[in-house]
Amino acid sequence: MTHLEPAIVLDRVSKTFPGAARPAVSECSLTVGAGELVVLLGSSGSGKTTLLKMINRLYEPTSGTIYVNGQDVRAVSAVELRRRIGYVIQQVGLFPHQTVAQNIATVPRILGWDRKRIEERCDFLLELMQLPPEQFRDRRPRQLSGGQQQRVGIARALAADPPILLMDEPFGALDAITRETLQDELLRIQAQFQKTILFVTHDVDEALKLADRIAVMKDGRIEQVGTAIELLHRPATPFVRQLLGADDWLQRLSVVPVRRAMNAEPEVAAASSAQPLPAEASLRDALEALLRSDLKPVPIVDRRGRRVGVVRWEDVRAAAGDPFGQVVSP
Ligand SMILES: Nc1ncnc2c1ncn2[C@@H]1O[C@H](COP(=O)(O)OP(=O)(O)OP(=O)(O)O)[C@@H](O)[C@H]1O
Ligand SMILES: [Mg+2]
Repeated sequence: MTHLEPAIVLDRVSKTFPGAARPAVSECSLTVGAGELVVLLGSSGSGKTTLLKMINRLYEPTSGTIYVNGQDVRAVSAVELRRRIGYVIQQVGLFPHQTVAQNIATVPRILGWDRKRIEERCDFLLELMQLPPEQFRDRRPRQLSGGQQQRVGIARALAADPPILLMDEPFGALDAITRETLQDELLRIQAQFQKTILFVTHDVDEALKLADRIAVMKDGRIEQVGTAIELLHRPATPFVRQLLGADDWLQRLSVVPVRRAMNAEPEVAAASSAQPLPAEASLRDALEALLRSDLKPVPIVDRRGRRVGVVRWEDVRAAAGDPFGQVVSP
């Protein structure tokens, strides 16, 4: 997404911990555009958390430079960085002896907001995360379910309305249903408030569902950066191919949202006689719809029922790659 203003730029960033035999992060370069959701995908120990922690200066790189909104982070104070960057850490990490409201207020208090403003912000965020404030604001973290704790963790990261969010496996410990709900909510919040998000996971389906682009990490290096469709279609290395299960493309298509392959052509969508698909539908749904419509472009509708674009046979075929072309052709 090169047309976006870069919000985060990593320029050949490396980190070797003292005494370590090899770097935890090695020569990583990545640009995250403003309003973009990029997923760092990689197995345990591949350096994802280390990379994230260098962006908000919890760790200093051994070499390389990190820019946030064009500024070298070494030149930005810790307070200023916290205002700009919300951080959801890997194990939720709510302060156990503080109430939900106090947890959410952490950064606003550091920033010196007055009490009324903090209370209003806190209630707004609890509502946003679908936790009724009057029920939840005075509870302690131990009185919450895992999913509720994650929501409070996200509310805390959003408290000072930072344009950038770093999220380290925020849904890792949750059951599949709660996880899907929170994924949907994150996408909703991101669309509504245009946050720039760098999201860490080792779950391929989660990456395919959430990401505008995915950066695949292995042994401290970024192996490939691209959209879900690019990675499925043209894996750059055997590792990427294996990780994404490129051989199991039909199953993978079922987790990639159709909007990632959509053409923003409302006129064509308006004129189409094919049955429309919701933007949340998967590419696999699109494939079925295309087959039903004799491969005529299928209109995509947003949450308000507006026809915002179309998906074509070529788009799904491109996403599916060669194996597909051999199965059916138009
Ligand atoms: N504070 C530290 N001191 C020394 N080594 C560390 C430190 N933090 C991480 N490492 C090492 O750096 C490497 C990358 O760790 P990192 O936590 O970034 O991986 P990760 O991709 O986040 O893994 P996971 O998915 O398990 O969270 C690992 O080999 C780890 O042991
Ligand atoms: Mg980690």
